[in-house]
Amino acid sequence: MKLFDTHAHLDDGQFDIDREQLISEMRENGVNKIMEVGSDLKSSEKAIDIAENHDFIYCSVGIHPEFAETVTDKDFETVCKLAQHSKKVKAIGEIGIDYHYNDCSSREKQISCFENQIDIANELDLPIIVHDRDSKGDVLKILKEKKVTNGVVHCFSGSAETAKILVNMGLMISFTGVITFKNARKAIEALKVIPVERLMIETDSPYMAPEPYRGRRNDSRYVKYIAQKMAEVKGMDFEELCNITYENGKKFFNID
Ligand code: NI
Repeated sequence: MKLFDTHAHLDDGQFDIDREQLISEMRENGVNKIMEVGSDLKSSEKAIDIAENHDFIYCSVGIHPEFAETVTDKDFETVCKLAQHSKKVKAIGEIGIDYHYNDCSSREKQISCFENQIDIANELDLPIIVHDRDSKGDVLKILKEKKVTNGVVHCFSGSAETAKILVNMGLMISFTGVITFKNARKAIEALKVIPVERLMIETDSPYMAPEPYRGRRNDSRYVKYIAQKMAEVKGMDFEELCNITYENGKKFFNID
């Protein structure tokens, strides 16, 4: 069994007490690759550091919409520099729009922060990792305007209809432990219509722990529960689903 957790935040303070111990247990749990995702400049630097110290961990750099309000042009230059700093940087992310928390950043700032970083990704020929929470269609609009084809919409929470549009645009879609929750009907309906070659699996740890660990700290070892549920929904063999999503992740992030 080979598993690729395509979205984890190992840099998170919740892992300060046992980060290295956890990382050392990944392979025996079938986790052969991890994408460590940055969410601001500091965490992007940490992400690079973690990836450089572990051969099976790769990383992305970028500024999450939550931090868009105070972002400066110099910060975008730093993202661009960080992205070229290490061969382990495989994507720009996570970037996008989040209107769920109204107090985080203004809509204008979020949109310009997203657009600027899409431009960086295009310039460097890197894929993007997209965060879309209650963006009311703005993410889709921007992805279309910018003609993005090399991206993944992570922790997908949209409808089956939106999933179809994204697939037609050539994008990837990844799911978290949310699909294991009892109230996941919408996510399951979306999952059903997405071709398996466009799917990736992720923990988004330390958040979003799947059942039977819901509510606890999540980590990449639990990605197998997401794969199990995905295999069940797609009517596929578990091993086969693991292998296909593993290869999808490798191809998407350009990892050999
Ligand atoms: Ni995330």
